Formats: sequence, C-alpha cells, structure tokens
Amino acid sequence: MNTNTPYTSGLENVIAAQTKLSRVNGQLGELVIAGYPVEEIALNASFEEMVYLLWNGCLPNQAALAQFSQSLKERSALPNETISLLETAVAKNATPMSALRMAAGTLDLDSNNVDRLDIGKRLVARFATVVAAYWRLKNGHTPIDPHSKLDHAANFLYMLTGDVPSDAKSRALETYLNTVVDHGLNASTFTARVIIATQSDLVSAITGAVGALKGPLHGGAPGPALQLVFDIGQADRAESFLRQKLEGGERLMGFGHRVYKVRDPRAEILAKAAKSLYEQDGDLALYRLAQTVEETAVSLLAEYKPGRNLQTNVEFYTALLLHGLGLDSDLFPAVFAMSRVAGWIAHCFEQMDNGRLIRPKSAYIGEEGLIWQPINAR
Ligand code: ACO
Repeated sequence: MNTNTPYTSGLENVIAAQTKLSRVNGQLGELVIAGYPVEEIALNASFEEMVYLLWNGCLPNQAALAQFSQSLKERSALPNETISLLETAVAKNATPMSALRMAAGTLDLDSNNVDRLDIGKRLVARFATVVAAYWRLKNGHTPIDPHSKLDHAANFLYMLTGDVPSDAKSRALETYLNTVVDHGLNASTFTARVIIATQSDLVSAITGAVGALKGPLHGGAPGPALQLVFDIGQADRAESFLRQKLEGGERLMGFGHRVYKVRDPRAEILAKAAKSLYEQDGDLALYRLAQTVEETAVSLLAEYKPGRNLQTNVEFYTALLLHGLGLDSDLFPAVFAMSRVAGWIAHCFEQMDNGRLIRPKSAYIGEEGLIWQPINAR
C-alpha cells in the first residue's frame, strides 16, 4: 500500500459530511430528522411539511405550507418528453426503478433554469407522477393527470388507481414517506452529494442517486422481504425455511444494517402503521405471519451470525405496509425513491452551500515496475 492512512472497507464509520438533516445512532436505535425524533414527526406531519422542514430547517406555518403545497401541485404534471420516454421504457419492459432513472433525466429540460428550489420542487412533485404513470402504462392503462385538490401522498394513490383513497390509506402512505425521507449518509444520499459536489446539476445528482437506491442491498430489499413471507406461507414452516436459506449462505432480506445494531426505529413505526392498516382493511393473518417470520429470523441470525447484531431493518415492514396499500412489490423501490428524493435534494442544497469537492484516495495494491511488451511478444 502506498498510503499511511488506513483503508476502511465500505467506508464503515468514516465521517464524510456534516449535516443538519438527520442523525442516526445505530447503537441506541435513534433517528432524528432535522431535530425531531422520527417517531414524533413521521406520524404527525404531512409529506409536504416534511419536505419543507428539510429544505428550510423549520416547519412551515399555515400560509407557508399552503403556498409550498400549491407550488408542488403546479409542478406535478409531466413534460411530454417524459411520457414518450415512459412509453419506450414499457416497450423495453423496464422495471419501475429503471424507468424512474431514465425519466429523472427529463424532469427539468430547461437548461437555463438555475432556480434550484424550482428544480427541487419539480423533481419531488414529478417523481410521484412518473411512478404512477409508468405503472399504469406498463399495465395497459392511460396515465391519470394529477388531482388539483389532493395532497402529495393521496394524489399518488389516486394517479395509480383512479380512485380517491381513504384517509387511512393516505395517512399510511404519508407515514411511510415521512419515515424514509432522510437517513444520514446512506449510499444513495452519498452518491447525490458526490455528484453535486463537482458542481454538476441537481437532475444529474438525483439520477445517480436513483441508480444507487435501486440495488438489492439498499432500496431493492422490500420486494424480496415480502416474497420471503409469502414463500414461508405458514408460521410452522418459518424456522425450517429460514434455516435452509442461512445454511445455503443466503442473506435474509429486510434484516441487518450497516449502522443499526438494534432494531431499526423505522421498523417500529412502519410495523405499527401496517398493523393499523391491516386491522382496518386487510389480511391480519399475513401481518401475524410476518411477525413470526421476523421473530424467527432475528433469533436464527443471532445463531448463525453471532456477534453481528443482525436485526430487522426498515425494509421488512415497508414491504408489509406497501402491500397493505395494494401496491405491487415491483413498485416498492420506486415508492421509496418518491420519498427519499426530498432528502437527496436537501443534502444537495447543504452540499452546495457548505461542501467541497468529495475526492477520497485509494490504496494501490497492484504491481509496480512492469516492462512494456509489444503485442506479438505477449
Ligand atoms: N442475512 C444473513 N446474513 C447477513 C445479513 C442478512 N440479512 N446481513 C448481514 N449478514 C452477514 C453477512 O453475511 C456477513 O457475515 P460474515 O461476516 O460471516 O461473512 C456479516 O453479516 C456482515 O455483513 P456485511 O455485508 O459486511 O454487513 P454490511 O454492514 O456491509 O451490510 C446490509 C449491511 C447490506 C444491509 C446487509 O445487512 C444486508 O445485505 N441485508 C439484507 C439486505 C437488506 O435488507 N437491505 C436493506 C437495508 S436498509 C436500506 O438500505 C434502506
């Protein structure tokens, strides 16, 4: 190695940014978002309030909220170019996350627009419209225009189904969106900060972040987590099924976290929100099965990976909640992105205001002093 600075695999425990946006304590299982414990804010705020908080550092008063919500609504319709691109993505059978990554690049085509707040609002408002429109196109339906009266979360469910959702469903989605909106320097947020730190543009930063979120180790876990519960099917099969997976060296999706060494506090919020949704209008037996799967998985992970403290992460109950809302599991990562985009943008603003170019070093472990060989001598 040609450096005296120690190499840290996966940048674990490396502090690479200062932020006022969120604080994660993985030992105590705490998440604070812009000063508010996640348990306090996620269940009470509207998504619009949450976005305003992250972008302004304080909650809005009534007039500011009304103005902010209206400005998001005004930007929620998609440019024609985005619709054309989504039609092409359907023809190529793209996943919703791939379609969102492609579409993200078309959400602000005005190269003279330097108003970062305007671009941020376009991205947040239009992410929901893209996801709903793509799902409808993919399933042979015409996209539905945004509703002029509904708030962000309710509007997404409306654009997806054509029905104005119940208050319970809108609240459940809003709680989910609030819970996952920001989470320290996770992989996709780091990606966005690295891109914007080069003085690139917001759309590029957000497009890169979608790519990072798409992976199964980050935002792609809830679909497989739900499948795990379905594959197990009944409580008395949980132990043998999970043991077989662990003995085959497989990872259990929805468990383990780089930072949390106790149960992810977001799992608690989403488990409660999912329970209340399933109690009102859902398959309570599925919820109870998921609880058994969770308990069994945590206890087997302690047995197979002692000392690793592998606990339930946010994705396990994300899967249950979004399934309870009637969403197909192929949509889960894109719905995650619909929320996290607001956090990515907040981090970009912070990086633009206070940050420097992000440029770590690598430790060279290759050969030295090789002699050039002409091609016919190799
Ligand atoms: N199931 C089984 N074993 C696991 C799991 C799991 N879910 N998670 C970690 N391990 C094991 C690893 O195999 C490894 O074991 P070993 O040392 O015997 O080889 C050990 O625990 C440490 O694993 P790392 O990959 O080094 O841990 P890292 O901190 O890099 O991983 C991660 C964190 C990627 C989330 C991991 O726990 C995982 O793959 N979980 C499943 C995927 C998932 O649920 N992702 C969503 C995360 S939440 C989010 O991003 C929003």
